[in-house]
Amino acid sequence: MKKFLVLIIVSAIVFAAGLYIGKVKFSASGPAAPPPTFFEGGDGSMAVDLSEKTVIEVRDGESIQDAVGKANPGDLIRVFPGTYHETVYIDKDNISLQGVIQKGNWPTMDGSKDGEPVLNDAILYSGSNILIENFKIVQYKGNGIMGQAGNNFLIRNNWIIESGVYGIFPEFGKNGLIEHNVLQGIADAAIYVGMCDNIDVRHNEVFESVAGIEIENSRHCLVENNYTHNNTGGILAFITPGLPIKTCYDVIIRDNFVVDNNLPNFGKPGAIISLLPAGTGIIVMAADDVIIENNIITGNDNTGIAITDLSFGSQLSKDPDAEPNPDRVVILDNVMYNNGNNPVADIKAAMATQFDDKGPDILANGGGVGSCIRNRDMYRTWGLDGYASCELESTDDVKSYLLSEPVAPRVIEQDEKGKLAFYGVCSGCHAYDVRMIGPPTQIIQALYKDNPQGIADYINAPIRKREDFPEMPPQNYLTEETRLAVAEYMLSINK
Ligand code: HEC
Repeated sequence: MKKFLVLIIVSAIVFAAGLYIGKVKFSASGPAAPPPTFFEGGDGSMAVDLSEKTVIEVRDGESIQDAVGKANPGDLIRVFPGTYHETVYIDKDNISLQGVIQKGNWPTMDGSKDGEPVLNDAILYSGSNILIENFKIVQYKGNGIMGQAGNNFLIRNNWIIESGVYGIFPEFGKNGLIEHNVLQGIADAAIYVGMCDNIDVRHNEVFESVAGIEIENSRHCLVENNYTHNNTGGILAFITPGLPIKTCYDVIIRDNFVVDNNLPNFGKPGAIISLLPAGTGIIVMAADDVIIENNIITGNDNTGIAITDLSFGSQLSKDPDAEPNPDRVVILDNVMYNNGNNPVADIKAAMATQFDDKGPDILANGGGVGSCIRNRDMYRTWGLDGYASCELESTDDVKSYLLSEPVAPRVIEQDEKGKLAFYGVCSGCHAYDVRMIGPPTQIIQALYKDNPQGIADYINAPIRKREDFPEMPPQNYLTEETRLAVAEYMLSINK
């Protein structure tokens, strides 16, 4: 395991070094018209041309946010080794934020004080064409790197350790690459692709987190060559009901190591993820057209692959617009062994009906049509009787789901602002009619009927109101305008 980690880091560093030494000339002064930021080969590569950029340097003791404030679209912000206690909010397009690693010293963003996480998020971006690389991010209460509606992003070669909600979380983004990151100890999903399109997640190592890699309500995603180990669950592709985007399809999960994902679930009570049973390698819930190929799935004590409909999460909000069944799941050849050594009670009981006392390599539960499996006799399975033999041989012809051209930045209308912020920030804790980490939206609507300003004020500096809930983190990094927009949106939701 160590070897793998070292390999990733060494290759990332060699790669990064290549960037500095090989290609990049920095021009200290500008500003010429910025060159196009992203060039892509359409073959799964995505790179940023840093050669002609105006460079802003940030050194230990200075503030990254100040540099972002000064930067113009097209600029490169280089952050030198040091410790930065701050939240960085990038609300411009075309910003490259690059850590400089010197002699093994990384720029470290640290959200803690006296050993306890105090800051909410490390880096939030809402612009498009964003590069974030070479940061070490430790001990934030909320998210490591979170994107809201930014298109064309490249997030690579970061360490993210012990953040309280998500590690890397692009939401509502199109065309993004997440690669060569190492994430550890994340209390919800380490890499969480939410309501996105055309995302590749490659060559990451994710461990000791609740969910390793999560593709949720997203389309055209490739999860390739990652090492997910010692999480509660390794890789998830699923639909969460109640979100504005209702589908999740065209997901390829291939060439990953999915190993020993048996960590007891330490998700916050009320978070959907706290329902995830430990010991599950890959879960497909209600997502369609998911292809699982050539993974090594071993040592997961509940089951190797679980395919289920939405009845699994009976505590989820009801959503008549979300189709609850996993359809057209394709299981090609995978290496699976030593899974199911300690299945949850339901699975144990199911397996007992076929005189097996271990959990299966592959379990399918609930509805769904058009699914198939190759070489089913290679595995111990449960519930796959309706699966045909696959005609598809392999996914070789799909090199990447990245687009060959960058897409235009998303234009956000004023009335969309509140919605985006709500689903980006609040919905992880507030569902419409069920208790999650925070009280249901319905209850809040009753309290704040006709009083959006009251909500906007509360979320700026929340005070503890309920004994049986944790305290709510302040949302003071949102502008006044966005706080009001999100409050108005929260009051308008009706399901
Ligand atoms: C990390 C979880 C979390 C996030 C994110 C979150 N909340 Fe909360 N929220 C809570 C919790 C927990 C409470 C209950 C706090 C209490 O009663 O002490 C709460 C309470 C509230 C209340 C009730 C205040 C009252 O007077 O009773 C409002 C309004 C609210 N949140 C709005 C929002 C909005 C808007 C957002 C998004 C911008 C948001 N919350 C994001 C967890 C969260």
